[in-house]
Amino acid sequence: MITIDGPAGAGKSTVARELAKRLGFRLVDTGAMYRAFALRVKGAGLPPKTGPELNALLDQTTVELRGERVLLNGRDVSEAIRTSDVSELTSRLTTLRVVRDKATPLQRQLAAAGGVVLEGRDTGSMGGPSAEVKFYLDASETGRARRRMRELEERGRRPSLAEVRDEIARRDRQDRGRKLAPLVVPTGAIVIDSTGKSVAQVVKLMLTEVRRIQCSTRS
Ligand code: DC
Repeated sequence: MITIDGPAGAGKSTVARELAKRLGFRLVDTGAMYRAFALRVKGAGLPPKTGPELNALLDQTTVELRGERVLLNGRDVSEAIRTSDVSELTSRLTTLRVVRDKATPLQRQLAAAGGVVLEGRDTGSMGGPSAEVKFYLDASETGRARRRMRELEERGRRPSLAEVRDEIARRDRQDRGRKLAPLVVPTGAIVIDSTGKSVAQVVKLMLTEVRRIQCSTRS
């Protein structure tokens, strides 16, 4: 089991996908799961607050990962979960225990079989605490904003760099400052700074670490 944590825009998703492919592992995008819950909350018009209404809604919600696709109550929402609105709402919802308590067992269940790359905030501590390899992928704020901008441009949006950097800084503050599952470097994690590195370079570094750890645990 491999986990990849890190702040928004450090390139976790792309790197995790590539690493999983290279190793023939299953990719578990935990952020996508939370985004699907957020889309459900948005659709129901509920505020991101703990209460009986949210509990009831979550009880009637199923999220499945089918390869790269995300299913919400059986409906493919892979594209719909990638809007800024959903990003913002997800960041708020993931501060609520009831939401994390719904998603964490799902992640652990998917990870239990092994041969998985678990990607997202807190995967090194909560989702996959027993992972053999834990990575924390970091990058400078501007580097992350540039990467996020390219992603948004690929989806036809044209935001300014300042706008994207502000959004990233706001989410960082939210994600680092919160009480529940804040963004931290998990104990025992290997920190990789992706600033100025290509996906291939980061994946190469990761594969070296994975092989080193595989060798040391086998001998
Ligand atoms: O990685 P992402 O942008 O898809 O994540 C969306 C939000 O969910 C982001 O604010 C971080 C949060 N998140 C979390 O709290 N725990 C996870 N395991 C994954 C994501």
